[in-house]
Amino acid sequence: MTVSYLPAGEEVALFTAAHLAGLPLLLKGPTGVGKTALVEHMAQRLGRPLVTVACHEDLTAADLVGRYLLEGDRTVWVDGPLTRAVREGALCYLDEVVEARPDTVVVLHPLMDHRRELHLERLGLTLQPAPGFTLVMSYNPGYQSLLKDLKASTRQRLVAIDLDFPSREHELRVLVEAHGIEATVAQPLVQLAQALRRQPVDGTSEAVSTRALIAAAQLHRGGVPLRQALDATLACALTDDASVAAALRECIATYVDA
Ligand SMILES: Nc1ncnc2c1ncn2[C@@H]1O[C@H](COP(=O)(O)OP(=O)(O)OP(=O)(O)O)[C@@H](O)[C@H]1O
Ligand SMILES: [Mg+2]
Repeated sequence: MTVSYLPAGEEVALFTAAHLAGLPLLLKGPTGVGKTALVEHMAQRLGRPLVTVACHEDLTAADLVGRYLLEGDRTVWVDGPLTRAVREGALCYLDEVVEARPDTVVVLHPLMDHRRELHLERLGLTLQPAPGFTLVMSYNPGYQSLLKDLKASTRQRLVAIDLDFPSREHELRVLVEAHGIEATVAQPLVQLAQALRRQPVDGTSEAVSTRALIAAAQLHRGGVPLRQALDATLACALTDDASVAAALRECIATYVDA
């Protein structure tokens, strides 16, 4: 039987303790290390609904909190995802939080410290979160520009969990036990990924993610030769530069026969 999330360390215990203490969390780590998988797993494990918000630079405080909308000839208040999560006692997952504008992130501050409240200015209301509410944010250090970073006042309110690239043993278990990939397929995939992370091909900006390995294995399961599958999910996807792609293909050929 496959499992949804395999802990790499103490992240499940830390997440659980922060949730019980009502402390907000920051999941740090490069793409594909399992930040979203961990949040989904924890929502299930803690028996809480999950509300996810993909953050971007046009996200306003009203997008999070809610706004009045015109309905026929009346205006009605519609809760935003954050307000919904506060009322339902849900896990509220703000994916790629650094993408959001600082003035948007500031509405979260009263929820993130001892006040534990959400001001709905337009309604003249202050909400106390229902039991179970937890704010979780994700952040990929190294991915966004240096101009975009979390403010110190935001950071120091958060319990941070660092999810780095997995060890060889852990990545193998993730593929085999969590994703049902045959060990004979998983082994060369993991060896390749670990080698490319140790010594990246010049010109690639993103390191190989576990996600790309899983996608290749899925294509392979559907009848695509493994090397060709990796060409699609890794060589071709990671770069538009023909010479960089060729160097990646060469590396793939070292670990995968056909
Ligand atoms: N520890 C793990 N247990 C089970 N599956 C995992 C684990 N780590 C990664 N995965 C799998 O790897 C893939 C990528 O994980 P996920 O989408 O959670 O990454 P992420 O950190 O949220 O990436 P991004 O920053 O791009 O959003 C998913 O298929 C996920 O199931
Ligand atoms: Mg994610």
